[in-house]
Amino acid sequence: MPTLLRVDSSPMFQASVSRRLTEEFVRRWEALHPGGKLIARDLTRTELASVTAEWVRAAYTPEESRSPEQRQLLAVSDSLIAELEAADEYVIGVPMHNFPSTVKLWIDLIARAGKTFAYVDGQPKGLLQGKRATFLVASGGKYDPGTALASFNFVEPYLRTVFAFLGVTDTAFIKAGGTAALRSGSVDRAAFLQPYVEAVASQVAGSSN
Ligand SMILES: Cc1cc2nc3c(=O)[nH]c(=O)nc-3n(C[C@H](O)[C@H](O)[C@H](O)COP(=O)(O)O)c2cc1C
Repeated sequence: MPTLLRVDSSPMFQASVSRRLTEEFVRRWEALHPGGKLIARDLTRTELASVTAEWVRAAYTPEESRSPEQRQLLAVSDSLIAELEAADEYVIGVPMHNFPSTVKLWIDLIARAGKTFAYVDGQPKGLLQGKRATFLVASGGKYDPGTALASFNFVEPYLRTVFAFLGVTDTAFIKAGGTAALRSGSVDRAAFLQPYVEAVASQVAGSSN
């Protein structure tokens, strides 16, 4: 059964552009995959604890030797990783927050030696194999190539690099830049969203081939 993992992290809910686009992706994906399974992860409703010394010790303690406290410390990370393993495809809404924020906390909990990556003969090897990821990035500013802020686009190279490190090299980015115009009311929301909704539709249709 094809399985899609949807990850949201915008605190803006109804006003969020990234949530509107992940919603569109899911709607179209479900229409194309009747009987497919959806796993929905909302990072605003997940306790994303910071990585502490105890957490690191727990992560590097062999599974069978972990204390109940260590298992508890890793429980959220274990669940987040299990979702990534269970799904064939990911759609990840990325609100650009300080180049980015909550998504980074999630990544800190899913990048785990021996679970999602390993070093083999001194070389990193991603353990999430055969997956495909679409990132739907919403940002107040525009960071497309050729724009004044292009060199500030840390989000895309960062996500591309870290997901490749975890083994996910089949990635696509749809970037809804310039949402600040929505907040100021100078642009109509439906008109602003239209090209990105269409890009999402093409992405879902194309990736089902
Ligand atoms: C706390 C915070 C930090 C932000 N940081 C950035 C930023 O670094 N660069 C940027 O272009 N926009 C930034 N923005 C604007 C958001 O990227 C923009 O509102 C975007 O639409 C968020 O995605 P969403 O609509 O899914 O919530 C920030 C917004 C907030 C609330």
